[in-house]
Amino acid sequence: MKTQLIDYYDTPPEPEDSEEQVLAGLLAAEKTIAPKFFYDEVGSDLFTRITRQPEYYLTRTELKVLRENAVNISDRIGPDSLLIEYGSGSSEKIRVLLESIRPKVYAPLDISGDYLTESAATLAAEYPWLEVRATCVDYSSDFELPFEIDARPVAFFPGSSVGNFSKAAALQFLERVQCLVGEGGGLLIGVDLAKDTEILNAAYNDANGVTEKFNLNVLNHLNHAFSGNFDTDQFAHVASYNEREGCVQMFLESQSIQCVKIAGREIEISEGERIHTENSHKYSLDEFLAMARKAGFQHHECWTDDQDWFAVIFLS
Ligand code: AVJ
Repeated sequence: MKTQLIDYYDTPPEPEDSEEQVLAGLLAAEKTIAPKFFYDEVGSDLFTRITRQPEYYLTRTELKVLRENAVNISDRIGPDSLLIEYGSGSSEKIRVLLESIRPKVYAPLDISGDYLTESAATLAAEYPWLEVRATCVDYSSDFELPFEIDARPVAFFPGSSVGNFSKAAALQFLERVQCLVGEGGGLLIGVDLAKDTEILNAAYNDANGVTEKFNLNVLNHLNHAFSGNFDTDQFAHVASYNEREGCVQMFLESQSIQCVKIAGREIEISEGERIHTENSHKYSLDEFLAMARKAGFQHHECWTDDQDWFAVIFLS
């Protein structure tokens, strides 16, 4: 489909597959909902609001690193690339680099189709020289780009979203990206680094309660997508750093005994029981680089902030 300003490719996950995944997670002994279900249009918007909370240092810090090193980073990437952004959301970060990178094509990928078309069209209007091809896709699955472009592919995966994967899945993801960009390509990735527990806990429990809203909204999304009747008032937001696992974990804790209907099934939930909604791994630079090497990337260059809170890494 060609809208006025962008090419749009609609390849969302099959609703039946998502339904199956949601039910499997909710019927398991330890209940889980995959983090990709956060991102309906409301959830994408709430996430953008999280990035503006004072406690949520990640976006601010990454943007600063990108801004201060835009020339060096762009030199690594080179002009006329096919720049593929994984989980582009509001496409805020790429704006810092577009003028210096000057890609041939910008290809944002996101699971939230409505949010994606809107964000991509806004961006295309701001950069009339840029060709924008947006794809609605679940990038955590094994997917193929729905188009071919004769240009050096470079992937952009900011925000430390790689932290959502388990360590095993992160390695597999890096291998898939390596395969997609090939010999001459590269990956520019943002990685949140290990730091004091208090700073991490504050970042996922902001005083304005936006993260709480974001976490609870996953239930509204499931209600809407799979005919559920979750009552968000019956759940509490819980987020804390798990030192043993090296990740911040988010849960929705049931405030009562309840029976929830969704996708034609009944889910029994006891009082105090937690639904695990997200892991957000925090890496040391060495650990992450070792994983990148294992995935087949031979070269790296890193940029960080003064406090070494957040790393931007170019892998090739
Ligand atoms: C978009 C996955 C990087 O883990 O920090 C923000 C999502 N969750 N607050 C993160 C999130 C709670 C975010 N990522």
